[in-house]
Amino acid sequence: MQRDLSFDVGPVRISPACVLAPMEGITDRPFRSLIRGLGGCGLTVTEFVSSEAMSRQVAKAWKMAELSPDEHPVSIQIYGRDPVRMAESAKYCQDLGADIVDMNLGCPSKAVTSGCAGSALMRDPPLAQRIFAAVRAAITVPMTVKMRLGWDRECLNAPEVAHIAQEEGASMVTVHGRTRADAYKGAADWKAVGEVKAALKIPVLVNGDILTVDDAVRALDESGADGVMVGRGTMRDPWIMRSIADHFAGRPAYEPTLDERRTVLLHYFDMMTEASPINPDRYALGKMKKVTGYFTRGLPYGARLRELVYAATTTQGACEAVTHYFELLRSHNLRDGFSRVHDDPDQPFRVGDPRRLDRVAP
Ligand SMILES: Cc1cc2nc3c(=O)[nH]c(=O)nc-3n(C[C@H](O)[C@H](O)[C@H](O)COP(=O)(O)O)c2cc1C
Repeated sequence: MQRDLSFDVGPVRISPACVLAPMEGITDRPFRSLIRGLGGCGLTVTEFVSSEAMSRQVAKAWKMAELSPDEHPVSIQIYGRDPVRMAESAKYCQDLGADIVDMNLGCPSKAVTSGCAGSALMRDPPLAQRIFAAVRAAITVPMTVKMRLGWDRECLNAPEVAHIAQEEGASMVTVHGRTRADAYKGAADWKAVGEVKAALKIPVLVNGDILTVDDAVRALDESGADGVMVGRGTMRDPWIMRSIADHFAGRPAYEPTLDERRTVLLHYFDMMTEASPINPDRYALGKMKKVTGYFTRGLPYGARLRELVYAATTTQGACEAVTHYFELLRSHNLRDGFSRVHDDPDQPFRVGDPRRLDRVAP
């Protein structure tokens, strides 16, 4: 089915409207560059950056907000609860070259919500409104908001909060189809995202559990959203956004060979090693283990690769495990495992199976 999957966020064209989700510890510069390089990604978003830390000049926060000169359009996501610090940080992000500044109203982690930031703001619409207004007044680039459906099933107020954001000048809203209380349990409710879409004039992105082209098609149909945001699916299959974009452009979905998949994963491991701020065998290896946990779920012999990478004590050992894994796939003629896995009854995770991502979410 051909469909124009693009729209404007203020002066910024998002084309295709397949957006890489912000993921702390994952969507750093190397990962964003990897995904953008593979095609199909119309916008990248940084990991969330604490407005508190940024305005207190904490070096780590500034590092997280660093952009590469060639990554545009790109959005920097900030979180916090103090309108003044949020506004100050939004201005810093604009000065760092962000095309868009996004605000986090979705993070469920206690560390964030206990300070009344992230998804806790869904419970305090007046404070959220003051933050939106302060940020809007501080920047000239578009401001956007990412949220959950609400705090819990008793407080499903995403349409209300999204409407407030729109009235305060937000140019786009992204909705993860779960509440804060859901954490990552159950399946994302794409129909409920449709209630936000129906309440707004600005573009809406649907997010949550999009792992395949079929998922993207259903998520867009059920929500009526203008585009998709994909998070964990990009670690599972870095070409997923390219496949989605191909599908909506009426092209056959690109099918990378096993060799390409191995080369890209190893290249990514190399980038992590190079970007490691400290001894890579301590820092980059930890990241490799985390990414491998996502990458291998539901894949043939995925557990074997996990075991090998988790046991590695050096980055080189992790790379050797990856090479070994792809040799195993080739020797069993399993090049299709990546695209077939969700329809294969022998695999542990299937479309519609609410367990499929629970076990890998933080
Ligand atoms: C490791 C990890 C880190 C995340 N960090 C952020 C973050 O910094 N900001 C944010 O808005 N959402 C964050 N999320 C949530 C994702 O952006 C996304 O909303 C969620 O994973 C659902 O989408 P998915 O099923 O496509 O992964 C994170 C998710 C994961 C798995």
